[in-house]
Amino acid sequence: MPDFTPRVFSGIQPSGGLTLGNYLGAMKRFVQMQDEASHETIYCMVDLHAITVWQDPARLHAATRELCAGFIACGIDPEKSILFNQSRVPEHAQLGWLFSCVARMGWMQRMTQWKDKAGKNAQNASLGLFAYPALMAADILIYHATHVPVGEDQKQHLELTRDIAVKFNNDFGVDFFPITESVIEGAATRVMSLRDGSRKMSKSDPSDMSRINMTDDTDTIAAKIRKARTDPEPLPSDLKGLDERPEARNLVNIYAALADVSAEQVIADHAGQQFSTFKPSLADLAVAKLSPISAEMARLTADPAEIDRLLARGAQRARAVAEPVLKQAYEIVGMVGA
Ligand code: TRP
Repeated sequence: MPDFTPRVFSGIQPSGGLTLGNYLGAMKRFVQMQDEASHETIYCMVDLHAITVWQDPARLHAATRELCAGFIACGIDPEKSILFNQSRVPEHAQLGWLFSCVARMGWMQRMTQWKDKAGKNAQNASLGLFAYPALMAADILIYHATHVPVGEDQKQHLELTRDIAVKFNNDFGVDFFPITESVIEGAATRVMSLRDGSRKMSKSDPSDMSRINMTDDTDTIAAKIRKARTDPEPLPSDLKGLDERPEARNLVNIYAALADVSAEQVIADHAGQQFSTFKPSLADLAVAKLSPISAEMARLTADPAEIDRLLARGAQRARAVAEPVLKQAYEIVGMVGA
């Protein structure tokens, strides 16, 4: 294998607003990785992935700008990182096509996200939803990215990305694409639904009470935490005491992540407390941490021209990396004029 420049890539779909789950699970880590000097960082709003299921055009347009504001408000610096929306860099879709010809139907059929999202009516799902992982592999490999921070639910797609890289390299007898490492988010930072501690907090959950949106105002945040599902027991005196209590565990994890301390520390500080005491402290902490971010998001969203300027610049920088990689991939495959 040739040496590849250490490069981090990740993407978030602009389908609905940012949640606390995106912030604590993804954004905070993206910012940490950006601020380590050992690699470049590229972060993408994957609008082409969003349309694998129906998106209202005006909503999609607004959500993409809002997500961009969210990235920046959470600490992504568009000078340090390359920040852009996927559709602006046509090389993603072009390499995605090559990968649709490398990946096998059987590989795609095994994807649990495909099975979950297509559901019982797979015949009526879009062809794009089926090909989703091939485009995702292209997102990553068009930059020869070496590390991809994602949630646990994307692990299988990352394995498929490696399979595509290996098959491409083998089929054409080259060492062209790197074998990307996934950097999987640990259980400690995974934020679960406020209504059901066994499900991930999600922007697509029908109940808005299940999540905290980064745009929620102070009263809404406090009300959602107050009404979060819990059990009647007080907080235990050690972490093991949370083992069979997913909702309690979730609130402790959220507290720890917001305060930047360990879950052990949170338990040590709040042992024996009732939720009627713990929840207001958590609400205060959440409001204190999130309101500067939502204020910054609101400020940025009020200036769409500035967001568009930043995204145009991000896309230009992304293309400078992607274009030569696509050209070489086309040459390897045998396209005339590449
Ligand atoms: N599939 C990812 C998700 O839903 C989003 C995504 C698209 C992505 N392309 C990517 C993540 C490339 C990491 C790398 O969360």
